Amino acid sequence: MTQSRTRISKAVIPAAGLGTRFLPATKATPKEMLPVVDKPAIQYVVEEAVTAGLSDVLMITGRNKRPLEDHFDRNYELEETLTRKGDDTRLARVQESSDLATMHYVRQGDPRGLGHAVLCAAPHVGDQPFAVLLGDDLIDARDPLLSRMVEVQEQHGGSVIALMEVDPAQIHLYGCAAVKPTEDETVVQVTGLVEKPDHADAPSNYAVIGRYVLDPAVFDVLRKTKPGRGGEIQLTDALQALASDPDLGGPVHGVIFKGRRYDTGDRGDYLRAIVRLACEREDLGPDFRDWLRSYVTEEM
Ligand code: G1P
Repeated sequence: MTQSRTRISKAVIPAAGLGTRFLPATKATPKEMLPVVDKPAIQYVVEEAVTAGLSDVLMITGRNKRPLEDHFDRNYELEETLTRKGDDTRLARVQESSDLATMHYVRQGDPRGLGHAVLCAAPHVGDQPFAVLLGDDLIDARDPLLSRMVEVQEQHGGSVIALMEVDPAQIHLYGCAAVKPTEDETVVQVTGLVEKPDHADAPSNYAVIGRYVLDPAVFDVLRKTKPGRGGEIQLTDALQALASDPDLGGPVHGVIFKGRRYDTGDRGDYLRAIVRLACEREDLGPDFRDWLRSYVTEEM
């Protein structure tokens, strides 16, 4: 069993997906760059990693993902123009994303599934536990999840996944975990995992959501993992191997998340995320809430 001795510092963000659910918006723009209010969705995810203490961020990208690199880099022309105008507020907003984290990029080449994307991180990650954050899942900053997962990993070793109870009719959209309770009611031991099971075959209604803290043993397992659901190399299948044999890389635990999560890969949830976050913003919220109230009363 590998026990972490050093503090987890690396985050991996797979961002090679094509975003077909948002076509035509994603024809020439990466889906990760779609704005949630006035910030690209991916920036919230990088901010979450940094808040949890992971300031070394590796993005797994692909063709047409250059705007991601540009977003987290300096933009001297824009910065110079804003400096000349004395627009410090906007200047700070431009610089925020380039000052956020130490960014690294690797291209996935062939999109062979989430497991394959994570495997592309192996040379960068090395032999330490690391986090994986899926860009489609936006976790509300007021409901910290990743920092709790890092704590649980430090306590138990092995790997930690995030689980959320869902309506059983929705479980076919997620990885699903078989679990055993632990002394802590917010943490379970994961005894098995299955990727997107039919409702009838699901071992529980605990859905895997897109945050993971993984033991590096996962890389060896991924190298041996055969294509699974959808013909893709599934991270869930590698985690199933880890959960069924703790000698491979320690146990797999699940942190039960009860906070606010938005699936920005789904158009309806994406709109809900924007409305909720806009309502809660100090600058936009008061006017927007007034408008929304009268819109709902008059139009619905
Ligand atoms: C991926 C994982 C799945 C997980 C989901 C969470 O699926 O394969 O196990 O439940 O993310 O968002 P995707 O939604 O990328 O198809």
